[in-house]
Amino acid sequence: MIDIKEVLEDPYKNYIYSYPHKMSYSKFDKKINLKDLWNDDISDLTLYIHIPFCANKCGYCNLFSTSDINKDLLDKYSYKLIEEIKAIEEIFGLKLKNNNLFSNIVFGGGTPTILSELNLKNILEALKLYLNIDFSKSKLSIETSPKTLNKSKLELLKEYNLYRISIGIQSFNENELININRLEPLDKIDESLGLLKNNKIKIRNLDLIYGIENQSLESFEYNLKKAISYNFEEIYLYPLYIREETYLYDKTKKNIDKMKHLYDFACEFLIKNNYIQTSMRNFINKNVKKELYPNYSCQENNMIGIGCGARSYKDNIHYSRKYARLNKNIKNIINDYLQENDFLHAKHGFNLNLDESKRRYIQKSILKITGLNLDDFKNKFNCDPFEYKELEFLLLNQFLIKEGNSLIPTKKGLAYSDSIGNLFISNTVKNKMLNFKE
Ligand SMILES: C[S@@+](CC[C@H](N)C(=O)[O-])C[C@H]1O[C@@H](n2cnc3c(N)ncnc32)[C@H](O)[C@@H]1O
Ligand code: SF4
Repeated sequence: MIDIKEVLEDPYKNYIYSYPHKMSYSKFDKKINLKDLWNDDISDLTLYIHIPFCANKCGYCNLFSTSDINKDLLDKYSYKLIEEIKAIEEIFGLKLKNNNLFSNIVFGGGTPTILSELNLKNILEALKLYLNIDFSKSKLSIETSPKTLNKSKLELLKEYNLYRISIGIQSFNENELININRLEPLDKIDESLGLLKNNKIKIRNLDLIYGIENQSLESFEYNLKKAISYNFEEIYLYPLYIREETYLYDKTKKNIDKMKHLYDFACEFLIKNNYIQTSMRNFINKNVKKELYPNYSCQENNMIGIGCGARSYKDNIHYSRKYARLNKNIKNIINDYLQENDFLHAKHGFNLNLDESKRRYIQKSILKITGLNLDDFKNKFNCDPFEYKELEFLLLNQFLIKEGNSLIPTKKGLAYSDSIGNLFISNTVKNKMLNFKE
Protein backbone atom coordinates (compact mmCIF):
# COMPACT_ATOMS: atom_id res chain seq x y z
CA MET A 1 0.00 0.00 0.00
CA ILE A 2 1.39 3.40 -0.95
CA ASP A 3 0.86 6.12 1.61
CA ILE A 4 -0.21 9.31 -0.18
CA LYS A 5 1.00 11.37 2.79
CA GLU A 6 4.50 10.07 2.27
CA VAL A 7 4.42 11.00 -1.40
CA LEU A 8 3.21 14.52 -0.63
CA GLU A 9 5.27 15.25 2.47
CA ASP A 10 8.57 16.29 0.82
CA PRO A 11 8.90 16.63 -2.96
CA TYR A 12 12.63 17.43 -2.65
CA LYS A 13 14.05 14.45 -0.77
CA ASN A 14 16.35 13.21 -3.45
CA TYR A 15 16.84 13.17 -7.14
CA ILE A 16 17.40 9.92 -8.96
CA TYR A 17 19.17 11.09 -12.08
CA SER A 18 19.92 7.60 -13.20
CA TYR A 19 18.48 4.31 -12.07
CA PRO A 20 19.97 2.42 -10.34
CA HIS A 21 22.13 4.89 -8.42
CA LYS A 22 25.88 4.26 -8.26
CA MET A 23 25.50 3.74 -4.50
CA SER A 24 23.84 0.41 -5.35
CA TYR A 25 26.68 -0.84 -7.57
CA SER A 26 28.91 -3.62 -6.28
CA LYS A 27 31.81 -5.78 -7.38
CA PHE A 28 30.82 -8.17 -10.19
CA ASP A 29 31.25 -11.88 -9.30
CA LYS A 30 33.34 -12.23 -12.41
CA LYS A 31 34.92 -9.34 -14.26
CA ILE A 32 33.31 -8.60 -17.62
CA ASN A 33 35.36 -8.62 -20.80
CA LEU A 34 34.43 -5.38 -22.58
CA LYS A 35 35.36 -6.68 -26.03
CA ASP A 36 32.71 -9.39 -25.59
CA LEU A 37 30.19 -7.03 -24.05
CA TRP A 38 30.35 -4.51 -26.90
CA ASN A 39 30.68 -7.14 -29.60
CA ASP A 40 27.24 -6.91 -31.21
CA ASP A 41 25.90 -4.67 -33.91
CA ILE A 42 25.86 -1.18 -32.42
CA SER A 43 25.66 2.38 -33.66
CA ASP A 44 24.72 5.79 -32.40
CA LEU A 45 26.62 5.51 -29.11
CA THR A 46 27.25 8.23 -26.56
CA LEU A 47 30.80 8.63 -25.30
CA TYR A 48 30.87 10.27 -21.86
CA ILE A 49 34.16 11.66 -20.57
CA HIS A 50 34.25 12.42 -16.88
CA ILE A 51 36.50 15.11 -15.38
CA PRO A 52 36.24 14.89 -11.57
CA PHE A 53 37.79 18.28 -10.75
CA CYS A 54 36.38 21.67 -9.74
CA ALA A 55 37.75 25.09 -8.81
CA ASN A 56 36.05 24.73 -5.42
CA LYS A 57 33.64 22.26 -3.89
CA CYS A 58 30.15 23.72 -3.65
CA GLY A 59 28.37 23.28 -0.33
CA TYR A 60 25.51 21.17 -1.68
CA CYS A 61 27.44 18.94 -4.06
CA ASN A 62 27.87 15.20 -3.56
CA LEU A 63 29.02 14.54 -7.09
CA PHE A 64 32.22 12.62 -7.60
CA SER A 65 34.56 15.63 -7.77
CA THR A 66 37.40 17.24 -5.83
CA SER A 67 38.89 20.72 -5.73
CA ASP A 68 42.07 19.39 -4.18
CA ILE A 69 44.04 19.72 -7.41
CA ASN A 70 47.21 20.98 -9.06
CA LYS A 71 48.56 21.19 -12.60
CA ASP A 72 50.47 17.94 -12.31
CA LEU A 73 47.32 16.00 -11.32
CA LEU A 74 45.26 17.50 -14.16
CA ASP A 75 48.02 16.69 -16.67
CA LYS A 76 48.37 13.11 -15.41
CA TYR A 77 44.61 12.59 -15.51
CA SER A 78 44.45 13.87 -19.09
CA TYR A 79 47.24 11.48 -20.19
CA LYS A 80 45.45 8.62 -18.49
CA LEU A 81 42.23 9.47 -20.32
CA ILE A 82 44.11 9.17 -23.59
CA GLU A 83 45.34 5.72 -22.50
CA GLU A 84 41.73 4.77 -21.82
CA ILE A 85 40.69 6.13 -25.24
CA LYS A 86 43.29 3.78 -26.77
CA ALA A 87 41.69 0.91 -24.87
CA ILE A 88 38.30 1.89 -26.30
CA GLU A 89 39.90 1.64 -29.73
CA GLU A 90 40.92 -1.90 -28.87
CA ILE A 91 37.46 -2.77 -27.54
CA PHE A 92 35.60 -1.57 -30.65
CA GLY A 93 38.29 -2.54 -33.18
CA LEU A 94 37.05 -2.74 -36.76
CA LYS A 95 33.69 -1.17 -35.90
CA LEU A 96 35.49 2.18 -35.80
CA LYS A 97 36.71 1.95 -39.38
CA ASN A 98 34.72 4.01 -41.88
CA ASN A 99 32.09 4.53 -39.26
CA ASN A 100 31.27 7.45 -36.97
CA LEU A 101 30.24 5.16 -34.12
CA PHE A 102 29.90 7.87 -31.44
CA SER A 103 27.16 10.32 -32.36
CA ASN A 104 27.41 12.17 -29.03
CA ILE A 105 30.55 13.16 -27.16
CA VAL A 106 29.80 14.52 -23.70
CA PHE A 107 32.32 16.04 -21.29
CA GLY A 108 30.85 16.08 -17.78
CA GLY A 109 32.01 16.44 -14.26
CA GLY A 110 33.01 18.03 -12.04
CA THR A 111 33.95 20.87 -14.29
CA PRO A 112 35.60 19.73 -17.54
CA THR A 113 36.71 23.26 -18.52
CA ILE A 114 39.05 23.26 -15.53
CA LEU A 115 41.48 21.42 -17.82
CA SER A 116 43.99 23.54 -19.68
CA GLU A 117 43.45 24.22 -23.37
CA LEU A 118 46.37 21.97 -24.15
CA ASN A 119 44.89 19.07 -22.21
CA LEU A 120 41.45 19.57 -23.76
CA LYS A 121 42.98 19.73 -27.22
CA ASN A 122 45.05 16.60 -26.66
CA ILE A 123 41.97 14.66 -25.55
CA LEU A 124 39.88 15.92 -28.49
CA GLU A 125 42.65 15.05 -30.94
CA ALA A 126 42.97 11.58 -29.39
CA LEU A 127 39.23 11.07 -29.99
CA LYS A 128 39.76 11.85 -33.66
CA LEU A 129 42.89 9.79 -34.01
CA TYR A 130 41.97 6.62 -32.10
CA LEU A 131 38.16 6.55 -32.30
CA ASN A 132 37.77 8.04 -35.76
CA ILE A 133 35.38 10.67 -34.43
CA ASP A 134 34.21 13.10 -37.05
CA PHE A 135 33.32 16.28 -35.20
CA SER A 136 31.41 17.62 -38.17
CA LYS A 137 28.90 14.82 -37.55
CA SER A 138 29.11 14.03 -33.81
CA LYS A 139 27.51 16.37 -31.30
CA LEU A 140 30.03 17.69 -28.76
CA SER A 141 28.65 18.80 -25.37
CA ILE A 142 30.42 20.14 -22.30
CA GLU A 143 29.64 21.33 -18.76
CA THR A 144 31.33 24.47 -17.52
CA SER A 145 31.38 27.08 -14.76
CA PRO A 146 32.05 30.84 -14.89
CA LYS A 147 35.50 30.73 -13.30
CA THR A 148 36.81 28.02 -15.62
CA LEU A 149 35.50 29.38 -18.92
CA ASN A 150 37.40 31.85 -21.07
CA LYS A 151 37.40 33.06 -24.65
CA SER A 152 40.24 30.88 -25.88
CA LYS A 153 38.80 27.67 -24.38
CA LEU A 154 35.48 28.44 -26.01
CA GLU A 155 37.21 29.13 -29.34
CA LEU A 156 38.98 25.79 -29.04
CA LEU A 157 35.73 23.92 -28.40
CA LYS A 158 34.10 25.68 -31.32
CA GLU A 159 36.84 24.36 -33.58
CA TYR A 160 35.42 20.93 -32.73
CA ASN A 161 31.92 22.03 -33.64
CA LEU A 162 30.66 22.52 -30.07
CA TYR A 163 26.94 21.66 -30.03
CA ARG A 164 25.88 22.18 -26.41
CA ILE A 165 27.38 23.99 -23.44
CA SER A 166 25.85 23.97 -19.98
CA ILE A 167 26.97 26.45 -17.35
CA GLY A 168 26.27 26.18 -13.63
CA ILE A 169 25.17 29.62 -12.35
CA GLN A 170 22.85 28.67 -9.45
CA SER A 171 22.22 32.29 -8.41
CA PHE A 172 23.01 35.89 -9.36
CA ASN A 173 22.90 36.99 -5.73
CA GLU A 174 26.16 37.19 -3.81
CA ASN A 175 24.66 36.27 -0.41
CA GLU A 176 22.93 33.23 -1.88
CA LEU A 177 26.17 32.07 -3.51
CA ILE A 178 28.02 32.48 -0.21
CA ASN A 179 25.25 30.59 1.54
CA ILE A 180 25.75 27.53 -0.69
CA ASN A 181 29.54 27.92 -0.66
CA ARG A 182 29.66 28.52 -4.39
CA LEU A 183 32.67 30.74 -4.83
CA GLU A 184 31.88 32.47 -8.12
CA PRO A 185 32.35 36.26 -8.28
CA LEU A 186 29.39 38.11 -9.85
CA ASP A 187 31.56 39.88 -12.42
CA LYS A 188 32.94 36.52 -13.60
CA ILE A 189 29.38 35.19 -13.91
CA ASP A 190 28.39 38.15 -16.08
CA GLU A 191 31.55 37.88 -18.14
CA SER A 192 31.11 34.17 -18.90
CA LEU A 193 27.43 34.54 -19.75
CA GLY A 194 28.25 37.51 -21.99
CA LEU A 195 30.80 35.33 -23.75
CA LEU A 196 28.22 32.62 -24.36
CA LYS A 197 25.60 35.15 -25.43
CA ASN A 198 27.91 36.53 -28.08
CA ASN A 199 28.91 33.17 -29.49
CA LYS A 200 26.89 31.08 -31.84
CA ILE A 201 26.46 27.69 -30.22
CA LYS A 202 23.46 25.58 -31.02
CA ILE A 203 22.39 24.87 -27.43
CA ARG A 204 23.33 26.95 -24.40
CA ASN A 205 21.99 25.99 -20.99
CA LEU A 206 22.22 27.54 -17.58
CA ASP A 207 21.47 25.94 -14.20
CA LEU A 208 19.76 27.73 -11.31
CA ILE A 209 19.04 26.50 -7.79
CA TYR A 210 16.00 27.49 -5.70
CA GLY A 211 15.34 27.00 -2.00
CA ILE A 212 18.59 28.53 -0.78
CA GLU A 213 18.31 29.72 2.81
CA ASN A 214 17.25 33.39 2.94
CA GLN A 215 16.33 33.35 -0.75
CA SER A 216 13.22 35.49 -1.12
CA LEU A 217 10.68 35.47 -3.91
CA GLU A 218 12.06 38.83 -5.02
CA SER A 219 15.67 37.64 -5.22
CA PHE A 220 14.59 34.48 -7.04
CA GLU A 221 12.55 36.54 -9.48
CA TYR A 222 15.67 38.61 -10.09
CA ASN A 223 17.62 35.38 -10.82
CA LEU A 224 14.97 34.27 -13.30
CA LYS A 225 14.87 37.66 -15.00
CA LYS A 226 18.64 37.65 -15.37
CA ALA A 227 18.53 34.06 -16.66
CA ILE A 228 16.02 34.78 -19.43
CA SER A 229 17.82 37.98 -20.43
CA TYR A 230 20.47 35.82 -22.14
CA ASN A 231 17.77 34.10 -24.19
CA PHE A 232 19.54 30.73 -23.90
CA GLU A 233 18.04 27.65 -25.45
CA GLU A 234 17.64 25.79 -22.14
CA ILE A 235 17.30 26.49 -18.42
CA TYR A 236 17.53 23.83 -15.71
CA LEU A 237 15.99 24.63 -12.33
CA TYR A 238 17.12 22.51 -9.40
CA PRO A 239 15.59 22.52 -5.93
CA LEU A 240 18.36 22.65 -3.36
CA TYR A 241 18.95 19.06 -2.28
CA ILE A 242 20.63 18.78 1.09
CA ARG A 243 22.74 15.65 0.85
CA GLU A 244 24.67 13.63 3.38
CA GLU A 245 28.42 14.12 3.45
CA THR A 246 28.19 17.65 2.05
CA TYR A 247 29.17 20.92 3.71
CA LEU A 248 25.55 22.11 3.90
CA TYR A 249 24.18 18.92 5.45
CA ASP A 250 23.94 20.10 9.05
CA LYS A 251 23.96 23.82 8.29
CA THR A 252 20.78 24.33 6.33
CA LYS A 253 17.13 23.67 7.05
CA LYS A 254 14.85 23.35 4.13
CA ASN A 255 11.58 25.17 3.92
CA ILE A 256 9.39 22.94 1.78
CA ASP A 257 6.47 25.35 1.50
CA LYS A 258 8.74 28.12 0.32
CA MET A 259 10.36 25.80 -2.23
CA LYS A 260 6.96 24.79 -3.61
CA HIS A 261 6.04 28.43 -3.94
CA LEU A 262 9.29 29.26 -5.75
CA TYR A 263 8.83 26.29 -8.06
CA ASP A 264 5.27 27.30 -9.01
CA PHE A 265 6.39 30.86 -9.53
CA ALA A 266 9.29 29.80 -11.77
CA CYS A 267 7.15 27.51 -13.94
CA GLU A 268 4.64 30.26 -14.55
CA PHE A 269 7.37 32.82 -15.17
CA LEU A 270 9.32 30.73 -17.65
CA ILE A 271 6.24 29.55 -19.53
CA LYS A 272 5.14 33.18 -19.88
CA ASN A 273 8.58 33.98 -21.24
CA ASN A 274 8.69 31.60 -24.18
CA TYR A 275 9.93 28.43 -22.44
CA ILE A 276 8.33 24.98 -22.53
CA GLN A 277 8.54 22.81 -19.42
CA THR A 278 9.54 19.27 -20.40
CA SER A 279 10.17 17.87 -16.89
CA MET A 280 10.37 19.08 -13.30
CA ARG A 281 13.79 20.60 -13.95
CA ASN A 282 14.06 21.24 -17.68
CA PHE A 283 12.73 24.23 -19.62
CA ILE A 284 13.43 24.67 -23.32
CA ASN A 285 13.16 27.79 -25.41
CA LYS A 286 10.29 27.52 -27.91
CA ASN A 287 12.70 28.48 -30.70
CA VAL A 288 14.56 25.16 -30.35
CA LYS A 289 11.59 22.93 -29.63
CA LYS A 290 12.44 20.68 -32.55
CA GLU A 291 15.94 19.90 -31.30
CA LEU A 292 15.27 19.63 -27.60
CA TYR A 293 11.80 18.20 -27.21
CA PRO A 294 12.27 14.91 -25.31
CA ASN A 295 12.87 12.03 -27.62
CA TYR A 296 11.34 8.69 -26.84
CA SER A 297 14.09 6.72 -28.54
CA CYS A 298 16.67 8.08 -26.02
CA GLN A 299 15.45 5.26 -23.80
CA GLU A 300 17.52 2.86 -25.81
CA ASN A 301 20.78 4.77 -26.04
CA ASN A 302 23.83 2.86 -24.90
CA MET A 303 26.67 4.85 -23.44
CA ILE A 304 30.32 4.19 -22.82
CA GLY A 305 31.96 6.28 -20.14
CA ILE A 306 35.64 6.97 -19.63
CA GLY A 307 37.41 8.65 -16.75
CA CYS A 308 37.14 8.10 -13.10
CA GLY A 309 33.50 8.82 -12.25
CA ALA A 310 31.87 7.85 -15.56
CA ARG A 311 29.23 5.17 -15.89
CA SER A 312 28.69 2.99 -18.91
CA TYR A 313 25.40 1.39 -19.94
CA LYS A 314 25.21 -1.58 -22.25
CA ASP A 315 21.64 -2.91 -22.19
CA ASN A 316 21.17 -4.46 -18.74
CA ILE A 317 24.82 -4.08 -17.69
CA HIS A 318 25.69 -0.81 -15.97
CA TYR A 319 29.26 -0.32 -14.82
CA SER A 320 31.65 2.30 -13.47
CA ARG A 321 34.55 2.64 -11.09
CA LYS A 322 33.81 3.03 -7.38
CA TYR A 323 31.81 6.00 -6.11
CA ALA A 324 32.57 8.16 -3.06
CA ARG A 325 31.49 11.47 -1.58
CA LEU A 326 34.25 12.18 0.94
CA ASN A 327 37.21 14.02 -0.45
CA LYS A 328 39.84 11.59 0.84
CA ASN A 329 38.03 8.65 -0.71
CA ILE A 330 37.50 10.49 -3.99
CA LYS A 331 41.24 11.23 -4.06
CA ASN A 332 42.06 7.56 -3.45
CA ILE A 333 39.80 6.44 -6.29
CA ILE A 334 41.42 9.01 -8.61
CA ASN A 335 44.86 7.74 -7.57
CA ASP A 336 43.79 4.17 -8.34
CA TYR A 337 42.57 5.35 -11.74
CA LEU A 338 45.96 6.91 -12.45
CA GLN A 339 47.59 3.53 -11.71
CA GLU A 340 45.07 1.48 -13.73
CA ASN A 341 46.53 -0.81 -16.35
CA ASP A 342 43.43 -2.77 -17.33
CA PHE A 343 40.78 -0.78 -19.15
CA LEU A 344 39.52 -3.86 -20.98
CA HIS A 345 37.38 -5.25 -18.17
CA ALA A 346 34.49 -3.97 -16.03
CA LYS A 347 34.72 -4.98 -12.40
CA HIS A 348 32.08 -3.00 -10.60
CA GLY A 349 28.45 -2.21 -11.45
CA PHE A 350 24.91 -3.51 -11.62
CA ASN A 351 23.38 -6.21 -13.77
CA LEU A 352 19.71 -5.23 -14.14
CA ASN A 353 17.26 -8.11 -14.15
CA LEU A 354 13.98 -7.80 -16.02
CA ASP A 355 12.16 -6.22 -13.09
CA GLU A 356 14.87 -3.56 -12.64
CA SER A 357 14.88 -2.82 -16.39
CA LYS A 358 11.11 -2.27 -16.35
CA ARG A 359 11.39 0.00 -13.32
CA ARG A 360 14.10 2.01 -15.03
CA TYR A 361 12.05 2.33 -18.21
CA ILE A 362 8.94 3.50 -16.35
CA GLN A 363 10.93 5.95 -14.23
CA LYS A 364 12.61 7.45 -17.28
CA SER A 365 9.31 7.86 -19.14
CA ILE A 366 6.66 9.06 -16.75
CA LEU A 367 8.55 12.14 -15.55
CA LYS A 368 8.92 13.68 -19.00
CA ILE A 369 6.03 15.35 -20.78
CA THR A 370 6.16 12.73 -23.54
CA GLY A 371 5.14 10.16 -20.90
CA LEU A 372 4.99 6.38 -20.96
CA ASN A 373 3.58 4.80 -24.09
CA LEU A 374 1.76 1.67 -22.95
CA ASP A 375 2.10 -0.14 -26.30
CA ASP A 376 5.84 0.49 -26.48
CA PHE A 377 6.22 -0.91 -22.99
CA LYS A 378 4.14 -4.00 -23.83
CA ASN A 379 6.09 -4.61 -27.02
CA LYS A 380 9.42 -4.23 -25.32
CA PHE A 381 8.77 -6.28 -22.20
CA ASN A 382 5.90 -8.47 -23.28
CA CYS A 383 3.89 -7.59 -20.20
CA ASP A 384 1.35 -5.11 -18.94
CA PRO A 385 2.88 -2.01 -17.27
CA PHE A 386 0.00 -2.03 -14.76
CA GLU A 387 1.75 -5.00 -13.17
CA TYR A 388 3.31 -2.06 -11.35
CA LYS A 389 0.44 -1.04 -9.10
CA GLU A 390 2.16 2.28 -8.48
CA LEU A 391 0.91 3.40 -11.91
CA GLU A 392 -2.72 2.92 -10.88
CA PHE A 393 -2.05 4.87 -7.70
CA LEU A 394 -0.52 7.71 -9.72
CA LEU A 395 -3.49 7.82 -12.10
CA LEU A 396 -5.99 7.69 -9.27
CA ASN A 397 -4.31 10.57 -7.47
CA GLN A 398 -3.93 12.68 -10.62
CA PHE A 399 -0.14 12.62 -10.80
CA LEU A 400 -0.58 11.02 -14.24
CA ILE A 401 -3.35 11.13 -16.81
CA LYS A 402 -4.03 8.85 -19.72
CA GLU A 403 -3.87 10.54 -23.09
CA GLY A 404 -4.36 8.24 -26.06
CA ASN A 405 -2.27 5.27 -25.18
CA SER A 406 0.23 7.10 -22.99
CA LEU A 407 0.51 8.01 -19.35
CA ILE A 408 1.50 11.67 -19.11
CA PRO A 409 2.55 13.57 -15.97
CA THR A 410 0.10 16.27 -14.85
CA LYS A 411 1.23 19.60 -13.39
CA LYS A 412 1.03 17.93 -9.97
CA GLY A 413 2.99 14.95 -11.30
CA LEU A 414 5.82 17.17 -12.53
CA ALA A 415 5.95 19.02 -9.20
CA TYR A 416 6.24 15.71 -7.32
CA SER A 417 8.60 14.04 -9.80
CA ASP A 418 11.19 13.03 -7.24
CA SER A 419 8.66 11.41 -4.89
CA ILE A 420 7.08 9.62 -7.84
CA GLY A 421 10.43 8.41 -9.14
CA ASN A 422 11.21 7.02 -5.69
CA LEU A 423 8.13 4.76 -5.82
CA PHE A 424 9.79 2.71 -8.54
CA ILE A 425 13.05 2.02 -6.71
CA SER A 426 13.13 -1.69 -5.93
CA ASN A 427 13.78 -2.99 -2.42
CA THR A 428 17.01 -4.55 -3.67
CA VAL A 429 18.32 -1.17 -4.85
CA LYS A 430 17.07 0.56 -1.69
CA ASN A 431 18.86 -1.94 0.53
CA LYS A 432 22.05 -1.74 -1.45
CA MET A 433 21.98 2.06 -1.23
CA LEU A 434 21.35 1.91 2.52
CA ASN A 435 24.31 -0.42 2.95
CA PHE A 436 26.60 1.65 0.75
CA LYS A 437 30.04 2.09 2.29
CA GLU A 438 32.74 4.33 0.88
C1 LIG B 1 26.37 17.92 -13.03
S1 LIG B 1 26.28 19.41 -12.10
C2 LIG B 1 27.77 20.12 -12.70
C3 LIG B 1 27.83 21.50 -13.29
C4 LIG B 1 29.10 22.31 -13.02
N1 LIG B 1 30.07 21.55 -12.35
C5 LIG B 1 28.79 23.51 -12.16
O1 LIG B 1 28.36 23.32 -11.03
O2 LIG B 1 29.02 24.63 -12.58
C6 LIG B 1 24.90 20.08 -12.81
C7 LIG B 1 24.00 20.85 -11.89
O3 LIG B 1 23.42 20.03 -10.91
C8 LIG B 1 22.92 20.91 -9.90
N2 LIG B 1 23.15 20.30 -8.59
C9 LIG B 1 24.14 19.47 -8.23
N3 LIG B 1 23.99 19.11 -6.93
C10 LIG B 1 22.86 19.72 -6.47
C11 LIG B 1 22.17 19.78 -5.23
N4 LIG B 1 22.61 19.12 -4.17
N5 LIG B 1 21.05 20.54 -5.15
C12 LIG B 1 20.60 21.21 -6.23
N6 LIG B 1 21.21 21.19 -7.40
C13 LIG B 1 22.32 20.48 -7.54
C14 LIG B 1 23.62 22.25 -10.05
O4 LIG B 1 22.70 23.20 -10.52
C15 LIG B 1 24.66 21.95 -11.11
O5 LIG B 1 24.94 23.05 -11.90
S1 SF4 C 1 28.25 21.77 -8.36
FE1 SF4 C 1 29.61 21.63 -10.10
S2 SF4 C 1 31.32 23.06 -9.60
FE2 SF4 C 1 30.22 22.71 -7.72
S3 SF4 C 1 31.38 21.05 -6.76
FE3 SF4 C 1 29.65 20.11 -7.85
S4 SF4 C 1 30.48 19.56 -9.81
FE4 SF4 C 1 31.90 21.03 -8.89
